[in-house]
Amino acid sequence: MFVSKAAVLGGGTMGGEIAQVIAAADIPVVVKDIKQEFVDAALDKSREVTKGQLDKLVSKEKLTQDAADARLDEVMGLITGATDYADFGDVDIVIEAVPEKMEIKKAVYKEIDEATPGHAILASNTSSLSITEMGRETLRPDKVVGFHFFFPASIMPLVEIIAGEDTSRETVTAAFNFAQTIKKQGITCGEVPGFVVNRILNSAAGEVWRKQEEGSLSIKAIDEAVAASNTSPMGPFVLIDMLGLDTVLHVAEYLNESYGDSFYVHKGMQKLVADGKLGMKSGGEGFYKDGEPNVPGEGEVDEATGTELSDLFVLKSLVEACKVLEEGVCTVREIDLGMMAGAGLDPRRGLFPPFWKADLEGLDVMLEKLERFEESHGERFAPPTILKRMVAQGRLGLKSGHGFYAYPQVEGEGTVKLEKRGDVAIAWLANPPMNAISPQVIEDLGKVWEEVKADGELKSMVVYSSLPVVFSAGADIKAFTKMDSPEKGAKLIDDGHSLLKELGESSVSTVAAVNAIAYGGGCELSMACDFRVAAESAVFGQPEINLGIIPGFGGTQRLPRLVGQSKALEMNLTGDAVLAPEAREYGLADDLVPDEQLFDVALSWARKLGAQAPLAVEEIKRRSNKGDLDDGIASEKEGFAKVFQSEDGKEGISAFLGKRQPRWKGK
Ligand SMILES: NC(=O)c1ccc[n+]([C@@H]2O[C@H](COP(=O)([O-])OP(=O)(O)OC[C@H]3O[C@@H](n4cnc5c(N)ncnc54)[C@H](O)[C@@H]3O)[C@@H](O)[C@H]2O)c1
Repeated sequence: MFVSKAAVLGGGTMGGEIAQVIAAADIPVVVKDIKQEFVDAALDKSREVTKGQLDKLVSKEKLTQDAADARLDEVMGLITGATDYADFGDVDIVIEAVPEKMEIKKAVYKEIDEATPGHAILASNTSSLSITEMGRETLRPDKVVGFHFFFPASIMPLVEIIAGEDTSRETVTAAFNFAQTIKKQGITCGEVPGFVVNRILNSAAGEVWRKQEEGSLSIKAIDEAVAASNTSPMGPFVLIDMLGLDTVLHVAEYLNESYGDSFYVHKGMQKLVADGKLGMKSGGEGFYKDGEPNVPGEGEVDEATGTELSDLFVLKSLVEACKVLEEGVCTVREIDLGMMAGAGLDPRRGLFPPFWKADLEGLDVMLEKLERFEESHGERFAPPTILKRMVAQGRLGLKSGHGFYAYPQVEGEGTVKLEKRGDVAIAWLANPPMNAISPQVIEDLGKVWEEVKADGELKSMVVYSSLPVVFSAGADIKAFTKMDSPEKGAKLIDDGHSLLKELGESSVSTVAAVNAIAYGGGCELSMACDFRVAAESAVFGQPEINLGIIPGFGGTQRLPRLVGQSKALEMNLTGDAVLAPEAREYGLADDLVPDEQLFDVALSWARKLGAQAPLAVEEIKRRSNKGDLDDGIASEKEGFAKVFQSEDGKEGISAFLGKRQPRWKGK
């Protein structure tokens, strides 16, 4: 399913901005509300946001005023307002953003099911209600999905894509691709109260609220301490004043009802809301009034208390994140990505999401702290099973090379680093921030490959990303266009092709461990390896077509060999991404594993392959990939004869008959 026209239902706080986000991606959108004045308000909001964005570009001299005015007209020309469903007959997706009340949602789902074509996806921006329940009001529950933006939708990059019990995988994939089209970061998850980000954030912030009330601490002192502590982008109470106390309280109470007292509800916040003091939206009075605290609490925050507050937040985030993971609601990387894009934990500012942070601090350190906090603060800090298991395995995070993510255990400057673990080579892609395949990466990978081949002891190679959130986002197009001569560029591309070909023809087996997005050149690199082990949150794609170009490192050749002509053509011509389960089904991924198990499983593939007879490995690889069947068979025959008569061939047969392990010589 592809979106050439969208609809937004409900033009309130969220709807007006959502329509703007869609139109800014050049997709026509109709916004419907119940009264013309609400529609007008939504259109005004869209105009205000678009103008704000364009004004910024003008002030940075990236756009002229005339161009900005023209663009404003263009974007606004894509948005139409409506108070009925007349314009819904040809939409491909509806984003529903009506009030958070199930009876209203149910009523509108019946209506949009009637008003829209049968193929259209019906997506809800709900923060908490059941997607399954809404879906069952329609004749297409498989096409109903959660599509949860964060406030303000024009700025916050995250969309949580929530699969209800009946939501099909195709719908989830289409929603993910739509999120990409409108330039949002999608994470996919299951249907639980608070989904991923609100659940983890509330669980953690609740500990700070609890400490404030129990210790009668000053909220101002807390906000200052938290802002200075590198745990979250701003103090929790200032933030709530911005978000609206009623909204935050509603979610907090709902999560408390759903999960119990491990989710704290701030009593002071309840009183402020009852008094109509909602923060910025009610004229400024909320937790603060004229810059001064508006709730009881005078206690200062000394260094020890500051550390405790920060520990409470970090540890509780980790506990809740582990629960989300253990319940199978979401994957390691997507949870972290959600907290980065939805809660502002930006590693570039030294703010790390829960799993990444735990890896950096040391999982043993986190476990020990949690055991202490369980004693002092109660069982809500009980260490999660997955953490205990990892520590027992010696998976201690960055310092041991492996925790929730895996890390290189080698130093060095290159964009690809070689690490040797027994007879397995690991080629670590290390070209932050996105592991773009640059000329330098090709050169460095070539050097690593030469070293692996020359080593003699190394039997297989795993290509692994040293960056937790990306495998490789594709070719570094800029760097290619900047090459000083066309001859140099042509040679580099030839060298790149030879290298990729060799990966698939050598006696050294190659395994790509795809941890995250593998787009364009990244996808092609993975396809050139013998096997692809995909983490559950891996995403594959050949988006070159979106730039008006075509895949340049074998994407038109290797993809059809792996997934078949039609799926390959679809991926190459639409540029749409394929999520890991679908990649597994189509044969693009050979194995699919939980994110945190990727390293172990990729290494086990490498060890298995590395123990096979090298000559036979090489011949099987060389003979398997012939394009024409007759040529391929002829080639296979030749290879078979060669291997059958080799020393290893004889040794293998003899070992089989003798029921013993063979000893390979590579001859
Ligand atoms: N406000 C937030 O911070 C936030 C963040 C994420 C998600 N959400 C979710 O987004 C949804 C909308 O929230 P909001 O804050 O924009 O609410 P809102 O009350 O500001 O806006 C809802 C709009 O829907 C309109 N509406 C009511 N019935 C309708 C109908 N039958 N047809 C068309 N329009 C109708 C209302 O007139 C109103 O303009 C809710 O599900 C909410 O949980 C809100």
